[in-house]
Amino acid sequence: MGKDVIIACDFSSKEEVLGFLDRFEGRKPFVKIGMELFYAEGPQIVREIKERGHKIFLDLKLHDIPNTVKKAMRVLSRLDVDMVNLHAAGTTVMMKEALEGLKREDGTRPLLIAVTQLTSTDQEAMEKDLLIEKPIDEVVMHYAKTAKEAGLDGVVCSPLEAGKVHDVCGSSFLTVTPGVRFAESDHGDQKRVMTPAEANRIGSDYIVMGRPITSAEDPVAAYERALKEFCE
Ligand code: C5P
Repeated sequence: MGKDVIIACDFSSKEEVLGFLDRFEGRKPFVKIGMELFYAEGPQIVREIKERGHKIFLDLKLHDIPNTVKKAMRVLSRLDVDMVNLHAAGTTVMMKEALEGLKREDGTRPLLIAVTQLTSTDQEAMEKDLLIEKPIDEVVMHYAKTAKEAGLDGVVCSPLEAGKVHDVCGSSFLTVTPGVRFAESDHGDQKRVMTPAEANRIGSDYIVMGRPITSAEDPVAAYERALKEFCE
């Protein structure tokens, strides 16, 4: 898979998400399904969107004991998704078991991406709540290295961190970056943002865009613009 724009389909019902995807007519964007939609509609929504021909990033951020994660990944792999994720904080053993669980009988598997430190966690919360006293950048890079050593395909990170992740883990280690906004658009609750063109220059492999596309007056035009800015 090459560089691509992934649309975060943060909807709460099947009607809303399918209505949104209908607007794309012949186009089949790569979509991200998160906890809200998955918990509301169950695995059937994944099958239905997959049957329509979309690639799917299933963003469920697994984190549990290695055996449980391995078995859960086996179930998710059978849904024929293209990308799944977990928390690197679950440890190297958990990440390795997750990879094992994802392998299908035909030898294929979805891409496995690690969440490092959530962007909602800042230095203060990390120190106070998690008793991690290192600088947050160092923690993020450490998680990225452990994910790479465990055999994962990449990490979710801010576009501002993508260049450094590639320096530390190599250019083929994927960076999947949310927090992307068009130059003139509202940032919403995202604090550290980049445009699709900037994310491209800094080396992001996939950008995840939600509201700038889902809330646009013309979502198809917004998606085409993101693709053009990011991939050209
Ligand atoms: O609407 P917006 O473009 O901000 O959506 C970004 C998507 O990426 C959301 O689904 C959000 O949950 C997800 N995400 C994020 N920041 C992270 C990890 C995931 O914004 N650090």
